[in-house]
Amino acid sequence: MELKDIMNSGIEAIKSASTLDKLNDVRIEYLSKKGHLTQVMGQMKSLPNEEKPLFGKKVNEVKQEIEVALKEKQEELQEAQLLEQMKEDKIDVSMPGVQFVSGSQNPLVMIQREIEDLFREMGYSVVEGDEIELDLYNFERANIPQDHPAREMQDTFYIDEHTLLRTHTTAIQTRTLEHFAPSIPLKVICPGKVYRRDDDDATHSHQFVQMEGLVVGHGITLADLKGTLSLFGKRMFGDKRVIRFRPSYFQFTEPSVEVDVSCHICDGKGCSVCKQTGWIEILGAGMVHPNVLKDAGYEDETLTGFAFGAGVERIAMLKYGIEDIRSFYINDKRFIEQFKRFE
Ligand code: DAH
Repeated sequence: MELKDIMNSGIEAIKSASTLDKLNDVRIEYLSKKGHLTQVMGQMKSLPNEEKPLFGKKVNEVKQEIEVALKEKQEELQEAQLLEQMKEDKIDVSMPGVQFVSGSQNPLVMIQREIEDLFREMGYSVVEGDEIELDLYNFERANIPQDHPAREMQDTFYIDEHTLLRTHTTAIQTRTLEHFAPSIPLKVICPGKVYRRDDDDATHSHQFVQMEGLVVGHGITLADLKGTLSLFGKRMFGDKRVIRFRPSYFQFTEPSVEVDVSCHICDGKGCSVCKQTGWIEILGAGMVHPNVLKDAGYEDETLTGFAFGAGVERIAMLKYGIEDIRSFYINDKRFIEQFKRFE
């Protein structure tokens, strides 16, 4: 083939190569050892000496042009291939994603965490204790001596003479007092399971969760208790809620109060939930009895403290309109999943 033809047909072949493979075939056809350009170089032998340099130069020029054209075409094809690939790999954002099935929290746990969060925000620490407890901390240190009739009110599961399943989180209160005495201020919230020999029905359970609150320091008054519980009532049942104190009696507090919150269902007007009173009882509270502080090791008689104990199931039942306390424990998914939206 003439050098000029090689040039023309080479450039043409490069132009029309539609894939990188075809382009490579062209490269082999023109530039390889047996390719057209190598062959045309063979013709040089038969040329007169003075024509050889010029011929060699021309062959080199053609080779260079073909190489440049090959390079350009290769880049063009690679670019096109990349675009094609990107088109294929395009992410369809409208495709449905993979669904991960996630569980939901038991509303009892949710309420417990919510209460803990509220008190943590107010600077309290969360303290837990053991469910198997000594009579000493469950009763005696709570100012309920041996043979006191108050013990019978809390039907107790005894393990032996001195050991029992705690009947209230006040046992965590007395242990915490002993642990920290005489340091102040003491601000703790104590969640935990408690046990009583009750027959289970819609409103009773032999096992339930309580939340004890305790503050000890200088100048702590009933007004502090009221302010604190007022915030608690609003956080649990809405900003419009108010609370009231009614006189009551507990061995471990003096004075003692029963705390009611204005009914969140009827706004205090009276309905079946609040038994037409406009008020719902939510917890017991009071000023820590001086004996309790003294027995735990707080000897400074000018110190005061408040305490309260709430049933967490009761709060959750009121808040969400749950009618059977047993619903919390049987873990029926249909029940639990209803509370997903509150998480
Ligand atoms: N321990 C009481 C109960 O189980 C609840 C309680 C009432 C706890 C008043 C307190 C309190 O700390 O001050 O019924």
